[in-house]
Amino acid sequence: EKGILAFSGGLDTSVVIKYLQEEYNMDVITVTVDVGQGDDQKKIEAKAKKLGVIKHYNIDARKEFVENFIFPSIKANALYQKKYCLATALARPLIAEKVLEIAKKEKVTSLAHGCSGKGNDQVRFDITLRSGSDLPIIAPIRDKNLDRVTELEFAKKHGIEIDSVAKRFSIDQNLWGRAIEGGVLEDPYNEPPEDAFIWVKTKNLPDKPTYLEIKFEKGIPVSVDGKILEPIKLIEYVNKKAGDAGVGIVDHIEDRVVGIKSREVYETPGALCLIEAHSDLEKMVHTKHENKFKSIIDDEWAYLAYSGLWQDPLKQDLDAFIQASQKPVSGTVKLKLFKGSIRVVGRKSDYSLYNHKIATYGTESTFDQRLAKGFVELWGIQSTEANKLQKKRSTK
Ligand code: ARG
Ligand code: SIN
Repeated sequence: EKGILAFSGGLDTSVVIKYLQEEYNMDVITVTVDVGQGDDQKKIEAKAKKLGVIKHYNIDARKEFVENFIFPSIKANALYQKKYCLATALARPLIAEKVLEIAKKEKVTSLAHGCSGKGNDQVRFDITLRSGSDLPIIAPIRDKNLDRVTELEFAKKHGIEIDSVAKRFSIDQNLWGRAIEGGVLEDPYNEPPEDAFIWVKTKNLPDKPTYLEIKFEKGIPVSVDGKILEPIKLIEYVNKKAGDAGVGIVDHIEDRVVGIKSREVYETPGALCLIEAHSDLEKMVHTKHENKFKSIIDDEWAYLAYSGLWQDPLKQDLDAFIQASQKPVSGTVKLKLFKGSIRVVGRKSDYSLYNHKIATYGTESTFDQRLAKGFVELWGIQSTEANKLQKKRSTK
């Protein structure tokens, strides 16, 4: 029996290795997929080996993550429930795909993951794995109904090292964001302790504003502050600059796929800035009708990506629509960051539909206001009729 597991080096997946070996009598192969979590791959590999895996793979998937997952999410202005940039949600289908590739090569007999039965990650892993394989899926944390205290005890008994942050919170991070859950955060009224945050400065913030100038081409960010940066560098740059300005903390109550409400805290400085800038630019280059319709598509896209339905044909169809809509989304947006806030303070584009001659209240206006009178009359005709009728009926 041979099992394969996406291994992060954290508590859950370390516990799973031991379970697979001891309870399921399996040889374990581990895969660590680098999606920009910033961990030391050598250390994780050493940890896996120490836990007795027969083989370990390191895969650098950062470029794919940015180009095939993060960039589409920027085009979709993807914020689940208007808040969450989907950092974890976007990485899961990619990690699962990589596991499948190696599973085939290594002819394993089972696929394993370290997700609980309460979360979203199980949904994302299971569905991607199922889309590419019929092998059994083993999820010991879920299958054995394990809680974190039991896991920590189990880890101690088996000499699994857990760092001090991981003892207090459950963390998942990658290039697009850092999710912090559990511990004291489980009381939704508790303010997150400052030391929960690593990417975003919360103290001694600069007294001067920070400006970020982001240039997009067809919906994709290509340069920042006049510097052309390759995709990974660009996101790192914005994360750092925005995080230093105190921007990027999200704290909200989230509706999970399984229906559980959870309190989620994130650090997502780059994502918030890039999505804010991108959606502002769209408003300038898209028509009123495009803007109204696309926000519905964007919401649905975020919902599907969150809910583990990355492979669903509807998601592919929405991608096609979104891609087509990005043709004129080229231009530059200027953001002003100050003590944790983001404000768009300027935008320009060759495809701008903003027409100064029409919009201006000055003497150079070319728009004949008299044309508006008839339009307004017709625009409101049904509403005014209905309103008059309501008054008549209710006063009788
Ligand atoms: N609630 C977020 C999501 O569903 C974050 C999940 C974090 N995952 C984790 N294994 N700690 O995407
Ligand atoms: C988990 O339950 O495995 C982590 C949290 C989540 O998936 O939402």
